[in-house]
Amino acid sequence: TTCIVLGAPVQEGAGRLGCDMGPSAFRTAGLVTELRNLGYAVEDRGNIVPAPRREVRHPNGAIKALPETVAWTEAITEAAYQASGDGMPIFIGGDHSLSAGSMTGLARRAATEGREFFVLWLDSHPDFHTLETTTSGNLHGVPMAYATGLSGFDGYFPTVANPLKPENVCMIGIRSVDPAERAALATAGVTVHDMRAIDENGVAPLLDAFLKRVAAADGILHVSLDVDFLDPGIAPGVGTTVPGGATFREAHLIMEMLHDSGLVRSIDLVELNPFLDERGRTAHRQMVDLVSSLMGRRVLDRPTQSYRHTPKN
Ligand code: ARG
Ligand code: MN
Ligand code: MN
Ligand code: MN
Repeated sequence: TTCIVLGAPVQEGAGRLGCDMGPSAFRTAGLVTELRNLGYAVEDRGNIVPAPRREVRHPNGAIKALPETVAWTEAITEAAYQASGDGMPIFIGGDHSLSAGSMTGLARRAATEGREFFVLWLDSHPDFHTLETTTSGNLHGVPMAYATGLSGFDGYFPTVANPLKPENVCMIGIRSVDPAERAALATAGVTVHDMRAIDENGVAPLLDAFLKRVAAADGILHVSLDVDFLDPGIAPGVGTTVPGGATFREAHLIMEMLHDSGLVRSIDLVELNPFLDERGRTAHRQMVDLVSSLMGRRVLDRPTQSYRHTPKN
């Protein structure tokens, strides 16, 4: 596999500025070197350039930066579709609105290949608002609703040709859900593991069950990792910290299991805000190190659980 690094310095979707410095911070923190040290060919395609802006207005007056977010979504969707035909795209953000583009482009790729598309969403937030329900108006709160084809995006955002099936989404780490999101999640069929589920079970059985479903469907898996999935004590470099997040060890275990599964085809690294970080430690000690574990770094050799697809007769 060739790792294809794609910067998406979008920051208009977040409530505070600074995510546009994210791609630079990931590069400075040594992401590309780390991947090469693990033996991968790496192609850094630089930063995606947003499509031309169109005037677009929505009756929900709270919404911020709709034309900008739409322009980014158009460009990121296209880049995701192209790159996923050439290797393993790693999107370095940029706020989480970038996943509106990455997930729809990757879903189109999966459809082209006749494969089922799955998403593991590691975040304290479900980002499941529609344009009607968002009250903050920050569009990093809508990408999952958009990608799964919830109503109300048509005519504003690009039409989603291949909606991601809600039942193919597994969220882990959730601990901040707005009332409208909670109602939408209750009917959508998304698997949501909140922090309580992690405390009661540990991350391993939750992830294991999902990986088995992906493998049984011979699916391809996209991983969307929001910095605020992690506990703010270890990852301060994000604008939306929520207490009680994933520990260093939980996060690495997830990454190691993902690597063992062999199912991951693409990754989003989002919401890093270098302006709020402390000497780059969120970028380097957390995010780049987590990518290393996801891409195969190991403490010791060990037999691994096989998630290989076993066709049913
Ligand atoms: N649900 C809140 C909102 O709509 C928070 C969203 C946070 N999203 C994120 N990608 N950090 O404003
Ligand atoms: Mn998010
Ligand atoms: Mn979040
Ligand atoms: Mn390192």
